[in-house]
Formats: sequence, structure tokens, C-alpha cells
Amino acid sequence: MTRNDNQSIRRRDLLTGAAALGVFGTSAPSLTFAAQAANPPARGLGAIAASKGILFGASLAVHELDRDHGERYQELYIRDARILTSELEFKLSTLRPKQDALDFHGADRLIGFAAAHSMPVRAHTLIWDDDVPDWIHRLAPGGISDLLDMHIETIMRRYAGRIRYWDVVNEPIGPWDGKPGNLRAGPFYRALGEDYIARAFKAARATAPSDILVLNEAQCETADENGETFRTSLLALLRRLKDQGVPIDAIGFQSHLKLAATYDLPVFTAFLHEVADLGFDIHITELDVNDSTFPGDIAVRDRAVARMYRAYLDAVLKVTAVKVVETWQLSDATSWMNDPATQARMAIRSNPRPLPYDASFQRKPAWDAIAEAFDAAPAR
Ligand code: XIL
Repeated sequence: MTRNDNQSIRRRDLLTGAAALGVFGTSAPSLTFAAQAANPPARGLGAIAASKGILFGASLAVHELDRDHGERYQELYIRDARILTSELEFKLSTLRPKQDALDFHGADRLIGFAAAHSMPVRAHTLIWDDDVPDWIHRLAPGGISDLLDMHIETIMRRYAGRIRYWDVVNEPIGPWDGKPGNLRAGPFYRALGEDYIARAFKAARATAPSDILVLNEAQCETADENGETFRTSLLALLRRLKDQGVPIDAIGFQSHLKLAATYDLPVFTAFLHEVADLGFDIHITELDVNDSTFPGDIAVRDRAVARMYRAYLDAVLKVTAVKVVETWQLSDATSWMNDPATQARMAIRSNPRPLPYDASFQRKPAWDAIAEAFDAAPAR
């Protein structure tokens, strides 16, 4: 969730963006629209991706398992996902709602669900300057650096051997804060400066030497000036961290795409190659397509969303350093874009249909687009 989401979306960009990705064009890759999910697919997306050496999965929120749609919700994950990301359960404000209270309820449940279905977990996220409980703002700098060390050690020790990937630091870039390196200035940055990032990764490696440590970032994908600023700032940060020997295994790109934005996929994949050349694996961590400002009937919207998935994945999967692809939830019913706070922040004006399944848990053209992109991808 980022400041840029507040920016209003102009109609001019909408047309530019759709056209840039061939969303309307007849030259876009053809999609075979599947029969609906009454007819479950012979193979899930996870199996299709695995045949190319790619790990596919999605974020999951355990509270969704308790809703009326809980059974249908979990079926999607069992069928399609081979990795789960915690949407909320490992966030600081969930684990530490109060300074002196730890709440492992949701995290334990998510780990239990993943274990029951033999899926690895990405714990999202240990240190994020954006999502912090209020009490942290009252800590002195020394208290914040102690918290950073103690939080990483406590959580990683508790879940030792049960988490494969950790989003150790989320969204370090925030140009609007005007700090050196365009770093985001939340409590951890204010207490420790840029060093909070190195310190977090070093603590993580020391605590869980064989887990995969990820730095996750937003807003790098678009062709506009904001995307360019994110890309150059992140690349510079990664070079500094690498020079200092900071232990990072992979870089996550959230990939919250918008039909209304403009993308230049050759520019973006050239950037991914630069990241890979530094020695990092690449994960696509929170993929979805915001169609909510897009006019027209549902079939048109679904095709446009599917084409954006296909064009984006076709491009990024050519970069063989991309080892993991995850969507942010699987069904429109449980997308964060249905959350009123998110809708206000992102100027969402109509019911979004951002994911491979609709709000009734039926497969949409986006599902086929993702499957076809995996089929077309080079093996790693
Ligand atoms: C979002 C969740 O999906 C929402 O339910 C929650 O209210 C706010 O956070 N980038 C991230 C994720 O890294 O943690 C955010 O998740 C979405 C944007």
C-alpha cells in the first residue's frame, strides 16, 4: 500500500496503458477461455508452473477460511497453489498488537494449513516501515533498534524449519519522503537510517541460516517517472547492500498492475536482468490487475485483465531468474481491492475483478492467461 495509489488515474493513461500492453489489440496472444469451474481444470496452475521449474502460489488470509465461502476458498489453494504467502498473519501489527503482547494465532493457523497441504510458506513481512502498530511510534530510537533485533529473532526462531521464504524488508523505497537514496522514512529508518535494512537481513541470516531472505518492493513496474524512480533507487540500494555483503537471496516485485497504467515491458525486463546480474533470484510476489476504473462490460474487462496477465508474465518469465510467481489472493471475493480503505486510497470506482477466479469462485480468462504463460515460459 503506497502513496502512489492515491494519485488519481487519468483517462488518457487508461488508453495508453491498455494499448501499450495490447489489451485491445488483435495482435495480443490468443486465449482459450476455459469452461467454468464446474469443470475443474485437469491440472492446477501450480502443477503447470512446476513443469517449467516455477513455483506458483498466492497469498492467503486465514480469516477467510471461517467465512461462508471457506470451503470453496480453500479448494482454490489446494488445487492451484504450491506456496502460500501470509497476507496479514506475519505483519507486525498482527503479531504485536500491543507492546507487551504477542499474538501467534493467525500465523500458527496459516502454518498449519500450509503443512496440512504440503505447501511452503512465505512469511510476509518482518520489517515494513509502512504497516506498524501505533505503539511503535512512541518508542525512542534505541527501543526501535532493540525491537528490530528482538522481533526478527523471536519470530524466526519460533517458526524455525517451517517457513521457506521471509520477506525480511518490505517496501524500503519511498521517494515522497525526500530522504537520501529515496528511502521510505518510517520508524525503522528514523531510528537507524539506511542501516536498518542491512541490520534486518544480518539478524535474519544469523537466526535462520538456511531460509531464503527476500527484499520485497512495490511500484517498479510502470513506464512512468514514478516507476523509473523506483527502479533506479532500488537498483542503487541493492548495489550498496551487495557491496556491504548484506545477505539477501531474492528480490520480490509486488506487481500490483493496473489497466489504467502504462507499461514498457522491455524496459522492465532489462531492469530485472540488471537485478539478476547482481546475483539475486527474482520473485513476483503480489500479482493482480486493477481493472476497477475500466469502463465496459464484464466480459471486456475480464479479457483485458487476462491479456495484461499474459503480456506481463510472458515478458517476465523470459527472465529465468524469476523462480516464484504469486498472486495476491486467488478470487475476486477476497481481494484487498474489496476492502473499503483500499478502495478509498486507490480511487476504486467499481467492483474490481483482479484475480484468476471471480467472486463466485469460478475460473475467469485470467486463469487461462496465467496457465498459457507458464506453458509458453522457458524452463529454469
Ligand atoms: C494489504 C492487504 O492485502 C490488506 O488486506 C491490508 O489491509 C493492507 O495490506 N503491498 C503489500 C501488502 O506488501 O502487504 C499489502 O497487503 C498490499 C500492498
